Amino acid sequence: MSRAVIVHQTGGPEVLTLEDRTLGAPGPGQVALRQTAIGLNFIDTYQRSGLYPVQTPFVAGNEGAGVITALGEGVDGLKVGDRVAYQGAVGAYAAERLISADRVVPVPDGIDDRTAAAIMLKGLTAFYLLFKTWPVAKGETILWQAAAGGTGLIATQWAKALGATVIGTAGSDEKVALAKAHGCDHVINYTKEDFAARVRELTEGRGVDVVYDGVGKATFDKSLDCLRPRGLMVSFGNASGVVTIPDITVLSRKGSLYVTRPTTAHYLGNRDDLLEGARLLFAAVADGAIKVEIGRTFALDDAADAHRALEGRETTGSVVLLP
Ligand SMILES: NC(=O)c1ccc[n+]([C@@H]2O[C@H](COP(=O)([O-])OP(=O)(O)OC[C@H]3O[C@@H](n4cnc5c(N)ncnc54)[C@H](OP(=O)(O)O)[C@@H]3O)[C@@H](O)[C@H]2O)c1
Repeated sequence: MSRAVIVHQTGGPEVLTLEDRTLGAPGPGQVALRQTAIGLNFIDTYQRSGLYPVQTPFVAGNEGAGVITALGEGVDGLKVGDRVAYQGAVGAYAAERLISADRVVPVPDGIDDRTAAAIMLKGLTAFYLLFKTWPVAKGETILWQAAAGGTGLIATQWAKALGATVIGTAGSDEKVALAKAHGCDHVINYTKEDFAARVRELTEGRGVDVVYDGVGKATFDKSLDCLRPRGLMVSFGNASGVVTIPDITVLSRKGSLYVTRPTTAHYLGNRDDLLEGARLLFAAVADGAIKVEIGRTFALDDAADAHRALEGRETTGSVVLLP
């Protein structure tokens, strides 16, 4: 028997139910993993609440690391005992799991399992946003909303290493200090200050080249006010609620702006993209460009408390569940 956190019916954190289950043998193209660390992500809360539909019952979670314990038919290039990590495969909140072999990547020796579980989804999201959605160039200025969060702390360090001037926002003075300590040039406490006005001031009226906004509903409109003409608004999440644009002429009025709403499925779904991102991410961690901050760990049994903390804006950096 093996433990897993199952969602039978969508709802609040209380629907996360720890249960024993029997894990079968891996099917063709799959591997079995004994998991050592599991990453917590905002998408886990969207799937749990039903905002992002997943067929019930399902095992929650999308990111983890562990050791291969069995190989299904036709799996090449991996062996029992290999340390691997993955993102974007529902079923992570479990002591053991089955997963398609093409979703896992080998973890280099210098990176421990907790670190790997802390960065696969958040770090690969940072990779595609900074390298593919808008390839950030030296000398550009970016704004990152919720810079002290899991994705934010990784991405802002990486953007800085790419030569950008990085402006962040955060919801408390402690979070402001944390984001600054991780390399943001300027961090605005957006619970106290009008961040759009402050961004205009910091950019001497010009505006930033690109805004990365995973906060969503609460910040979207003002994020548009932070952009230079023909700048790009990357709306990549809904931590505060889903964004809607009732009137598209807002984009012309605010500077012939571009808007995109990207997701990992369309940037990391292909194996080559996944491997490229993982290679660059692990290298950036190994060479110290990205220092991984695991703000908190929870036992797998306490997954509901972890969700409450994430949705309650109580966490900083990455959060890891330990099976
Ligand atoms: N599209 C993609 O491919 C993709 C991939 C990964 C993540 N994401 C998105 O990126 C965002 C960040 O994800 P994450 O897992 O790294 O989470 P996170 O940043 O660690 O946590 C979310 C943060 O958002 C801020 N926030 C502002 N208003 C909030 C509200 N009403 N409720 C909750 N949080 C609020 C909080 O920081 P402050 O207190 O500092 O405001 C909070 O800590 C999420 O929207 C997620 O869905 C998208």
